[in-house]
Amino acid sequence: MAQYALLILPSANRVYANASVALTQAELGLFSRSVLDDRLGEVSASTIGGVPYVTFAADLTGRDAAFLANLSCAYALFRVEGDLLRPVVLGSLGRFDDDLLTILKYQGKTNEQFTRLLLNVTLLSSAYARDMLDRKFAVIDPLCGRGTTLNQALMLGFDAAGLDVDRKDFEAYSAFIQTWLKRKRIKHHVDFSGPVRRNRQVVARRLQISLAATKEAQKAGPIQQLDVVNADTTRAGEFFAPESYDLVSRGARLTCWLRPSRCGPGCCAAAARSESPGTPSSRPATRPRRSSPARALTRWTPAPTWRSGTAWTRRSAGTS
Ligand SMILES: C[S@@+](CC[C@H](N)C(=O)[O-])C[C@H]1O[C@@H](n2cnc3c(N)ncnc32)[C@H](O)[C@@H]1O
Repeated sequence: MAQYALLILPSANRVYANASVALTQAELGLFSRSVLDDRLGEVSASTIGGVPYVTFAADLTGRDAAFLANLSCAYALFRVEGDLLRPVVLGSLGRFDDDLLTILKYQGKTNEQFTRLLLNVTLLSSAYARDMLDRKFAVIDPLCGRGTTLNQALMLGFDAAGLDVDRKDFEAYSAFIQTWLKRKRIKHHVDFSGPVRRNRQVVARRLQISLAATKEAQKAGPIQQLDVVNADTTRAGEFFAPESYDLVSRGARLTCWLRPSRCGPGCCAAAARSESPGTPSSRPATRPRRSSPARALTRWTPAPTWRSGTAWTRRSAGTS
Protein backbone atom coordinates (compact mmCIF):
# COMPACT_ATOMS: atom_id res chain seq x y z
CA MET A 1 0.00 0.00 0.00
CA ALA A 2 1.27 3.49 -0.78
CA GLN A 3 2.18 6.00 1.92
CA TYR A 4 0.90 9.58 1.82
CA ALA A 5 1.87 12.72 3.71
CA LEU A 6 -0.58 15.56 4.20
CA LEU A 7 0.77 19.05 4.83
CA ILE A 8 -1.55 21.11 7.02
CA LEU A 9 -2.36 24.73 6.22
CA PRO A 10 0.08 26.91 8.16
CA SER A 11 -2.69 29.22 9.34
CA ALA A 12 -4.44 26.27 10.93
CA ASN A 13 -1.26 25.60 12.86
CA ARG A 14 -1.14 29.15 14.17
CA VAL A 15 -4.70 29.11 15.37
CA TYR A 16 -4.92 25.64 16.78
CA ALA A 17 -1.27 24.97 17.50
CA ASN A 18 -0.91 21.30 18.36
CA ALA A 19 -4.62 20.60 18.02
CA SER A 20 -4.54 21.00 14.24
CA VAL A 21 -2.70 17.68 13.78
CA ALA A 22 -5.11 15.77 16.01
CA LEU A 23 -8.12 17.44 14.34
CA THR A 24 -6.78 16.53 10.91
CA GLN A 25 -6.25 12.91 11.99
CA ALA A 26 -9.84 12.78 13.21
CA GLU A 27 -11.14 14.41 10.03
CA LEU A 28 -9.17 11.96 7.89
CA GLY A 29 -10.77 9.13 9.85
CA LEU A 30 -14.19 10.55 9.06
CA PHE A 31 -13.41 10.88 5.33
CA SER A 32 -12.13 7.31 5.38
CA ARG A 33 -15.26 5.92 7.05
CA SER A 34 -17.80 7.93 5.11
CA VAL A 35 -16.52 8.12 1.55
CA LEU A 36 -13.41 5.94 1.24
CA ASP A 37 -14.77 2.59 2.48
CA ASP A 38 -12.34 2.63 5.42
CA ARG A 39 -9.38 2.33 3.10
CA LEU A 40 -7.09 4.78 4.95
CA GLY A 41 -4.78 3.04 7.39
CA GLU A 42 -2.01 3.97 9.81
CA VAL A 43 -3.14 7.60 10.16
CA SER A 44 -0.52 9.26 12.33
CA ALA A 45 1.42 12.43 13.04
CA SER A 46 4.91 12.47 11.50
CA THR A 47 7.74 14.90 11.03
CA ILE A 48 9.46 15.01 7.65
CA GLY A 49 12.40 17.35 7.18
CA GLY A 50 11.49 19.06 10.44
CA VAL A 51 7.95 19.85 9.22
CA PRO A 52 4.87 18.25 10.79
CA TYR A 53 2.69 16.11 8.48
CA VAL A 54 -0.19 13.72 8.93
CA THR A 55 0.71 10.47 7.20
CA PHE A 56 -1.44 7.53 6.18
CA ALA A 57 -1.42 4.39 4.07
CA ALA A 58 -3.82 3.97 1.16
CA ASP A 59 -4.17 3.27 -2.53
CA LEU A 60 -5.89 6.45 -3.62
CA THR A 61 -7.86 6.84 -6.81
CA GLY A 62 -8.31 10.25 -8.43
CA ARG A 63 -11.79 10.50 -6.89
CA ASP A 64 -10.42 9.63 -3.44
CA ALA A 65 -7.90 12.47 -3.79
CA ALA A 66 -10.73 14.79 -4.87
CA PHE A 67 -12.54 13.98 -1.62
CA LEU A 68 -9.41 14.53 0.47
CA ALA A 69 -8.80 17.88 -1.24
CA ASN A 70 -11.75 19.06 0.83
CA LEU A 71 -10.14 18.40 4.20
CA SER A 72 -10.52 21.63 6.15
CA CYS A 73 -6.78 21.94 6.77
CA ALA A 74 -5.39 20.45 3.53
CA TYR A 75 -2.52 22.48 2.12
CA ALA A 76 -0.77 19.84 0.03
CA LEU A 77 -0.76 16.07 -0.31
CA PHE A 78 2.28 14.00 -1.24
CA ARG A 79 2.87 10.39 -2.08
CA VAL A 80 5.89 9.22 -0.11
CA GLU A 81 8.43 7.54 -2.42
CA GLY A 82 11.51 6.59 -0.42
CA ASP A 83 13.05 9.88 0.71
CA LEU A 84 11.03 11.87 -1.80
CA LEU A 85 7.58 13.45 -1.72
CA ARG A 86 5.65 13.37 -4.99
CA PRO A 87 2.81 15.97 -5.11
CA VAL A 88 -0.72 14.66 -5.59
CA VAL A 89 -2.97 17.04 -7.51
CA LEU A 90 -5.71 18.30 -5.22
CA GLY A 91 -8.77 19.81 -6.84
CA SER A 92 -10.85 21.31 -4.07
CA LEU A 93 -14.53 22.16 -4.35
CA GLY A 94 -13.58 25.75 -3.45
CA ARG A 95 -14.69 27.92 -6.35
CA PHE A 96 -13.95 31.46 -5.19
CA ASP A 97 -10.81 33.23 -4.00
CA ASP A 98 -9.93 32.45 -0.39
CA ASP A 99 -10.36 36.05 0.65
CA LEU A 100 -14.11 35.48 0.65
CA LEU A 101 -13.38 33.73 3.94
CA THR A 102 -10.52 35.75 5.30
CA ILE A 103 -11.04 39.46 4.54
CA LEU A 104 -13.85 40.09 7.00
CA LYS A 105 -12.30 40.25 10.46
CA TYR A 106 -14.14 41.02 13.65
CA GLN A 107 -14.05 40.19 17.33
CA GLY A 108 -15.52 36.77 18.06
CA LYS A 109 -15.25 35.56 14.46
CA THR A 110 -15.42 31.78 14.25
CA ASN A 111 -12.23 30.53 12.64
CA GLU A 112 -12.92 29.79 8.98
CA GLN A 113 -11.06 26.49 8.94
CA PHE A 114 -12.87 25.32 12.03
CA THR A 115 -16.14 26.32 10.38
CA ARG A 116 -15.16 24.29 7.33
CA LEU A 117 -14.28 21.33 9.56
CA LEU A 118 -17.76 21.44 11.09
CA LEU A 119 -19.41 21.77 7.71
CA ASN A 120 -17.43 18.74 6.51
CA VAL A 121 -18.34 16.76 9.62
CA THR A 122 -22.00 17.56 9.05
CA LEU A 123 -21.99 16.61 5.42
CA LEU A 124 -19.87 13.49 5.87
CA SER A 125 -22.05 12.26 8.73
CA SER A 126 -25.09 12.31 6.50
CA ALA A 127 -26.36 9.55 4.27
CA TYR A 128 -25.41 11.78 1.34
CA ALA A 129 -21.71 12.03 2.04
CA ARG A 130 -20.82 10.42 -1.26
CA ASP A 131 -22.63 13.23 -3.09
CA MET A 132 -20.16 15.76 -1.68
CA LEU A 133 -18.36 16.27 -4.97
CA ASP A 134 -21.41 16.36 -7.18
CA ARG A 135 -24.37 17.85 -5.42
CA LYS A 136 -25.40 21.42 -4.71
CA PHE A 137 -26.41 21.23 -1.05
CA ALA A 138 -28.37 23.96 0.69
CA VAL A 139 -27.04 25.13 4.04
CA ILE A 140 -28.84 27.28 6.58
CA ASP A 141 -27.17 28.97 9.53
CA PRO A 142 -29.82 30.13 12.00
CA LEU A 143 -27.25 32.23 13.89
CA CYS A 144 -25.27 33.42 10.94
CA GLY A 145 -23.46 36.38 12.47
CA ARG A 146 -21.24 37.93 9.84
CA GLY A 147 -21.41 34.92 7.61
CA THR A 148 -18.38 32.67 8.04
CA THR A 149 -20.53 29.58 7.54
CA LEU A 150 -22.51 31.20 4.73
CA ASN A 151 -19.27 32.06 2.93
CA GLN A 152 -17.93 28.54 3.42
CA ALA A 153 -21.13 27.18 1.89
CA LEU A 154 -20.83 29.57 -1.06
CA MET A 155 -17.19 28.55 -1.51
CA LEU A 156 -18.32 24.96 -1.97
CA GLY A 157 -20.89 25.94 -4.57
CA PHE A 158 -23.82 25.41 -2.20
CA ASP A 159 -26.84 27.62 -1.53
CA ALA A 160 -26.55 29.53 1.73
CA ALA A 161 -29.19 31.04 3.98
CA GLY A 162 -28.99 32.61 7.40
CA LEU A 163 -30.71 34.59 10.10
CA ASP A 164 -29.24 36.91 12.66
CA VAL A 165 -31.01 39.09 15.15
CA ASP A 166 -28.19 41.63 15.31
CA ARG A 167 -28.71 44.42 12.82
CA LYS A 168 -25.05 45.43 12.83
CA ASP A 169 -23.99 41.90 11.95
CA PHE A 170 -26.58 41.75 9.19
CA GLU A 171 -25.53 45.09 7.75
CA ALA A 172 -21.82 44.32 8.00
CA TYR A 173 -22.29 41.03 6.16
CA SER A 174 -24.61 42.55 3.54
CA ALA A 175 -22.13 45.33 2.81
CA PHE A 176 -19.20 42.94 2.73
CA ILE A 177 -20.68 40.35 0.40
CA GLN A 178 -22.03 42.89 -2.08
CA THR A 179 -18.72 44.78 -2.20
CA TRP A 180 -16.78 41.55 -2.53
CA LEU A 181 -18.95 40.25 -5.38
CA LYS A 182 -18.56 43.55 -7.23
CA ARG A 183 -14.82 43.82 -6.68
CA LYS A 184 -14.28 40.26 -7.84
CA ARG A 185 -16.58 40.88 -10.82
CA ILE A 186 -18.59 37.81 -9.99
CA LYS A 187 -21.81 37.52 -11.92
CA HIS A 188 -24.62 38.16 -9.48
CA HIS A 189 -28.01 39.71 -9.15
CA VAL A 190 -29.46 41.28 -6.04
CA ASP A 191 -32.95 39.83 -6.09
CA PHE A 192 -34.05 41.67 -2.97
CA SER A 193 -32.42 44.02 -0.49
CA GLY A 194 -34.18 46.04 2.16
CA PRO A 195 -36.90 46.00 4.75
CA VAL A 196 -39.55 43.31 4.72
CA ARG A 197 -42.93 44.89 5.48
CA ARG A 198 -46.16 43.36 6.66
CA ASN A 199 -49.21 45.47 7.41
CA ARG A 200 -47.02 48.53 6.81
CA GLN A 201 -44.68 47.47 9.61
CA VAL A 202 -41.05 46.57 9.04
CA VAL A 203 -40.78 43.02 10.34
CA ALA A 204 -37.23 42.22 9.18
CA ARG A 205 -34.48 43.10 6.74
CA ARG A 206 -33.46 40.74 4.02
CA LEU A 207 -30.84 40.29 1.34
CA GLN A 208 -31.30 37.80 -1.49
CA ILE A 209 -28.63 37.34 -4.14
CA SER A 210 -28.27 34.91 -7.04
CA LEU A 211 -24.69 34.31 -8.10
CA ALA A 212 -22.50 32.17 -10.29
CA ALA A 213 -18.77 31.62 -9.91
CA THR A 214 -18.12 31.95 -13.64
CA LYS A 215 -19.97 32.88 -16.81
CA GLU A 216 -19.91 29.21 -17.78
CA ALA A 217 -21.44 28.25 -14.43
CA GLN A 218 -24.10 30.88 -14.95
CA LYS A 219 -25.00 29.46 -18.34
CA ALA A 220 -24.88 25.86 -17.18
CA GLY A 221 -26.78 26.55 -13.95
CA PRO A 222 -27.98 25.97 -11.40
CA ILE A 223 -26.82 29.25 -9.93
CA GLN A 224 -26.23 29.69 -6.22
CA GLN A 225 -28.64 31.47 -3.90
CA LEU A 226 -27.73 33.52 -0.86
CA ASP A 227 -30.58 34.55 1.44
CA VAL A 228 -29.94 36.40 4.70
CA VAL A 229 -32.56 37.70 7.09
CA ASN A 230 -32.14 40.11 9.99
CA ALA A 231 -34.64 38.71 12.48
CA ASP A 232 -34.83 36.49 15.51
CA THR A 233 -34.18 32.96 14.41
CA THR A 234 -37.27 31.66 16.20
CA ARG A 235 -39.17 33.43 13.38
CA ALA A 236 -37.36 31.46 10.70
CA GLY A 237 -40.61 29.84 9.60
CA GLU A 238 -41.84 33.24 8.40
CA PHE A 239 -39.03 33.52 5.89
CA PHE A 240 -37.95 30.05 4.85
CA ALA A 241 -40.14 27.24 3.63
CA PRO A 242 -40.17 24.18 5.86
CA GLU A 243 -38.00 21.35 4.62
CA SER A 244 -36.03 23.52 2.26
CA TYR A 245 -32.47 23.00 3.52
CA ASP A 246 -30.12 20.05 3.65
CA LEU A 247 -27.64 21.05 6.33
CA VAL A 248 -28.32 23.12 9.41
CA SER A 249 -25.53 24.99 11.08
CA ARG A 250 -25.87 25.06 14.80
CA GLY A 251 -23.53 27.53 16.45
CA ALA A 252 -25.48 27.69 19.68
CA ARG A 253 -22.68 26.27 21.73
CA LEU A 254 -20.15 28.65 20.30
CA THR A 255 -22.48 31.58 20.62
CA CYS A 256 -23.11 30.83 24.21
CA TRP A 257 -19.56 30.23 25.24
CA LEU A 258 -18.05 33.01 23.21
CA ARG A 259 -20.55 35.79 23.41
CA PRO A 260 -22.86 35.16 26.36
CA SER A 261 -23.88 38.82 26.46
CA ARG A 262 -25.73 38.24 23.20
CA CYS A 263 -27.92 35.51 24.61
CA GLY A 264 -31.39 36.25 25.87
CA PRO A 265 -34.77 34.61 26.29
CA GLY A 266 -35.45 32.26 23.43
CA CYS A 267 -31.83 32.51 22.35
CA CYS A 268 -29.12 29.92 22.14
CA ALA A 269 -28.27 30.15 25.83
CA ALA A 270 -31.08 27.86 26.85
CA ALA A 271 -30.04 25.21 24.38
CA ALA A 272 -26.38 25.39 25.12
CA ARG A 273 -26.75 25.33 28.87
CA SER A 274 -29.07 22.38 28.94
CA GLU A 275 -26.79 20.22 26.85
CA SER A 276 -24.73 17.88 28.94
CA PRO A 277 -20.97 18.37 28.80
CA GLY A 278 -19.50 16.34 26.03
CA THR A 279 -22.58 16.52 23.85
CA PRO A 280 -21.16 16.60 20.36
CA SER A 281 -21.65 19.93 18.66
CA SER A 282 -22.20 18.17 15.36
CA ARG A 283 -25.23 16.21 14.38
CA PRO A 284 -25.92 14.09 11.35
CA ALA A 285 -26.83 15.94 8.25
CA THR A 286 -30.29 16.00 6.93
CA ARG A 287 -31.72 14.51 3.81
CA PRO A 288 -30.99 16.44 0.64
CA ARG A 289 -33.43 18.70 -1.07
CA ARG A 290 -35.83 17.44 -3.65
CA SER A 291 -35.45 19.05 -6.99
CA SER A 292 -39.23 19.31 -7.29
CA PRO A 293 -40.98 22.56 -6.45
CA ALA A 294 -41.80 21.02 -3.10
CA ARG A 295 -38.07 21.29 -2.50
CA ALA A 296 -36.50 19.60 0.48
CA LEU A 297 -37.37 16.73 2.68
CA THR A 298 -35.92 17.93 5.90
CA ARG A 299 -38.01 19.67 8.45
CA TRP A 300 -36.03 22.18 10.39
CA THR A 301 -38.71 24.42 11.82
CA PRO A 302 -37.17 25.75 15.03
CA ALA A 303 -38.96 25.00 18.24
CA PRO A 304 -40.32 28.05 20.05
CA THR A 305 -37.71 27.75 22.77
CA TRP A 306 -34.34 26.10 22.44
CA ARG A 307 -34.50 23.84 25.38
CA SER A 308 -32.32 21.05 24.20
CA GLY A 309 -29.90 20.09 21.53
CA THR A 310 -32.67 18.40 19.64
CA ALA A 311 -34.85 21.48 19.45
CA TRP A 312 -33.73 22.39 15.99
CA THR A 313 -35.45 19.92 13.81
CA ARG A 314 -38.25 17.48 13.98
CA ARG A 315 -36.57 14.83 11.88
CA SER A 316 -32.83 15.04 11.69
CA ALA A 317 -30.57 17.99 12.06
CA GLY A 318 -27.35 18.91 10.40
CA THR A 319 -24.84 20.92 12.26
CA SER A 320 -21.80 22.99 11.69
C1 LIG B 1 -20.91 33.18 17.09
S1 LIG B 1 -22.04 34.09 16.09
C2 LIG B 1 -22.35 32.95 14.83
C3 LIG B 1 -21.27 32.82 13.86
C4 LIG B 1 -21.75 32.20 12.59
N1 LIG B 1 -22.43 30.92 12.81
C5 LIG B 1 -20.66 32.08 11.55
O1 LIG B 1 -20.49 31.00 10.95
O2 LIG B 1 -19.98 33.08 11.31
C6 LIG B 1 -23.57 33.99 16.94
C7 LIG B 1 -24.64 34.91 16.38
O3 LIG B 1 -25.89 34.48 16.88
C8 LIG B 1 -26.73 35.62 16.88
N2 LIG B 1 -27.91 35.31 17.69
C9 LIG B 1 -27.99 35.03 19.01
N3 LIG B 1 -29.26 34.78 19.35
C10 LIG B 1 -30.01 34.90 18.23
C11 LIG B 1 -31.40 34.74 17.94
N4 LIG B 1 -32.27 34.43 18.90
N5 LIG B 1 -31.80 34.92 16.66
C12 LIG B 1 -30.94 35.24 15.70
N6 LIG B 1 -29.61 35.41 15.91
C13 LIG B 1 -29.15 35.24 17.16
C14 LIG B 1 -25.85 36.70 17.43
O4 LIG B 1 -26.32 37.99 17.06
C15 LIG B 1 -24.50 36.36 16.80
O5 LIG B 1 -24.24 37.14 15.68
